[in-house]
Amino acid sequence: MSRRLDGIFLYSVWATLAFCVAAPGCAQAGDAATPSAASAQRGAGIAHPQIWPKYHWPVVPDDRAEARIKDLLSRMTLEEKVGQLVQGDIAFTTPDDVRKYHLGSVLSGGSSGPYGNDLAPAPQWLKLADEYWSASTDTAHGGVGIPALWGIDAVHGHSNIIGATLFPHNIGLGAAHDPALIERIGAATAAEIRVTGQEWTFAPTVAVPQDYRWGRAYEGYSSDPALVSAYVGAMVRGLQGPPAQTDLLAHGKVLASTKHFLADGATTNGVDQGDAAISEIDLRDIHGAPYGPAIENGVGTVMASFSSWQGHKMTGNASLLTGVLKQRMGFGGFVVSDWNAHGQVEGCTNAACPQALVAGIDMYMAPDTWKSVWENLVTETRAGHIAMARVDDAVARILRVKFRVGLFDAPRPSARPLSGDWALLGAPDHRAIAREAVRKSLVLLKNTGVLPFRPGIRLLVAGDAANDIARQSGGWTISWQGTGLTNAQFPGATSLWQGLAQAAHTIGGTAELSPDGQFTTRPDAAVVVFGEKPYAEFQGDRASLQLDADLTAPWATIRRLKAAGIPVVAVMLTGRPLYVNPALNLADAFVVAWLPGSEGEGLADVLFGDSRGRPRFGFSGTLPANWPLKAQIADGVLYPRGYGLTYASSNRQWAPLAELAATAAGGDSRVWFANGVPAAGWSLRVGSPGDDQTRISAVPAKALDGRMTIAATDFKVQEGARRFTVTAGIANLLLDPPGPIDLARETNGDALVLMTLRNFGPALAARLEMRCTGKVCGTAVPITVPTSDHYVRYGLPLRCFATHGVDMHAISTAFAIGTSGPADYALGEIRIGTDADTVLPCP
Ligand code: BGC
Ligand code: BGC
Repeated sequence: MSRRLDGIFLYSVWATLAFCVAAPGCAQAGDAATPSAASAQRGAGIAHPQIWPKYHWPVVPDDRAEARIKDLLSRMTLEEKVGQLVQGDIAFTTPDDVRKYHLGSVLSGGSSGPYGNDLAPAPQWLKLADEYWSASTDTAHGGVGIPALWGIDAVHGHSNIIGATLFPHNIGLGAAHDPALIERIGAATAAEIRVTGQEWTFAPTVAVPQDYRWGRAYEGYSSDPALVSAYVGAMVRGLQGPPAQTDLLAHGKVLASTKHFLADGATTNGVDQGDAAISEIDLRDIHGAPYGPAIENGVGTVMASFSSWQGHKMTGNASLLTGVLKQRMGFGGFVVSDWNAHGQVEGCTNAACPQALVAGIDMYMAPDTWKSVWENLVTETRAGHIAMARVDDAVARILRVKFRVGLFDAPRPSARPLSGDWALLGAPDHRAIAREAVRKSLVLLKNTGVLPFRPGIRLLVAGDAANDIARQSGGWTISWQGTGLTNAQFPGATSLWQGLAQAAHTIGGTAELSPDGQFTTRPDAAVVVFGEKPYAEFQGDRASLQLDADLTAPWATIRRLKAAGIPVVAVMLTGRPLYVNPALNLADAFVVAWLPGSEGEGLADVLFGDSRGRPRFGFSGTLPANWPLKAQIADGVLYPRGYGLTYASSNRQWAPLAELAATAAGGDSRVWFANGVPAAGWSLRVGSPGDDQTRISAVPAKALDGRMTIAATDFKVQEGARRFTVTAGIANLLLDPPGPIDLARETNGDALVLMTLRNFGPALAARLEMRCTGKVCGTAVPITVPTSDHYVRYGLPLRCFATHGVDMHAISTAFAIGTSGPADYALGEIRIGTDADTVLPCP
């Protein structure tokens, strides 16, 4: 309790400042009201609203709605009011929960689909939407019955739904430099969302990424605040309609949410959910800039960021949420928090955080914690720790938005305009917009003359990403990470290979797909597709701007084809600029395709000329951010933002770029053990209670007085795994990072420890552990692994260690597996991730 009250006290300091400077005659706030240069960088995370711009909120007050809101507030119980402030995830919230707790909203997170099925067909989404709507409006047991809003991450099209049009991720749209196109994308996305019954998208992301090691950099349009600002208004209009639009549902529109407020793209080293250690001036001018056009175009909601500013979590920052956003900038919608982000506010837990409401959050995204958050808010308000006026203000903001959306007068979701119009999902005119966006997003970095392809060409298409629609779509595609999908899950979509093949045939040529580049008939030219694999959020964080070492294999294919005298066009799929000098040097042409989405033909449109060999479409895309010269952007820029060649300006001469030593490749901090060895700087030890620990650096080896043998065995590559054979007794195997690591973020995000293991012996009973600063912390998690003739990727949720008492902030042994008695197993890989073959139960 005292911790919580501390938080509230802290708030009152911020609130005094925020409210004071906003009130007339309050300028005597004095020194504290003006940020001094000295306080800027390491300030206290308190903003000065009076130095921020004011904006015009365009939504015209609706007297009839205001009267109804007033009436509703007078009739709602505290439980009903608090219900409006809480949003549960559909994986953890039944329609009956919505009815009982009067929840104002539900969301479907990246991995949540209707009835527990992330791959559910479109009609199931609409069916469930009706169920939540009916439950929320049911007044049979009392209550005023306010329709619930359903929010979803339609971040590059209605991207959770099978069959929807998938537009290029935002970084590709940034390369296109075309605000009018963005508005059309917004409108098409809104229409597709309306088909399946949701009313609200958590988009657009208006981050202005400053460090592309950040795993969410691709969700931002550009590192340039001016370009992001030029897009925001267009996207909001596309989704919601004109700035003052009312009755969104009747107009085939949805509610938008600009996110993540504020400075999600400014965190130190690009760490997801990290801290932006920047001045208030940079906060305002770089990261705050896009919120101006968002507000002036009437964006209905803003999502607060997981991240911090000057060491303080945004979700608890009254000076920014209330002082700047609502009071100074005039934002008239409501603020929703991010996925259990309230739990990271000082003094809070996932279960309870009244501080967030007090600071200015209006709706809690409490996916699996909605019930305890609800109970806590009721209790705290009743106890007088939260002002009733704040509760009423938050409810009124939410109801105002619901009136504007037209939710009160709309029938059940399936009876609304566009609902159930399945042909609109992936409709030809939407796909045409996406294809145009792909064309415009391509950035040409090299062309010594092989492009455009000429009539009659015999084309070879290689690279493991050439015929993989999930790979070209990136994260936030059907599943959260965009992993575990096959082309069959993208009906109506076109892979890059399919697009190239069609185009080759159209101009009287042929095309052959060969992932490893082997061919029977000698081609005239080859396209080799390579690049990143899908990721979302912190899973995409990297230590450097290098392509993961295991993704560079297609470069060897390019080298082989070149050695055979075949001209090669390298096509890179990526969520960010990366150091790829070896590929730039090798290929005859180099195209950055970003994450183009479902319409792969857009690539072929630009690579192929017409029947007379002239370009049909030019290259018009330019870099939305600087391209690195080496593995760190601080080491220099190879191509500046705004760079991009055209057919007219192709660089027929190529001066070879310096290449880094191959050993420096890779920067994937999620991989702890692979290829039989621990990650750089990590160590592998074996031990047992009372025994000396033995560090294993070479194999074969014996340890534990001869009780354990360690040998190399094959997995993926020769000697890619280690086999541990124990004859008797307790045997522990431990993997230590160079220094304590913080896994709190990954834990909060439902990541797993993945161990790729093959058990040669009988069913293995083992214990998994983590250790904090050298000591056992928490209790071991018992697991059982069956015998198997192949490797299985087992996953244990990190959350399981947390519930077993491990402090996830300072892990000194990231992985420990212990056995008692004879055991015989091999480990191929140990890492953090989400795609387990088998998720182990957490007892
Ligand atoms: C992300 C948000 C997203 C939300 C719901 C969070 O983890 O940060 O961008 O809207 O989840 O899926
Ligand atoms: C959800 C995402 C969410 C993430 C939190 C996942 O389990 O599916 O929507 O953004 O957790 O980091």
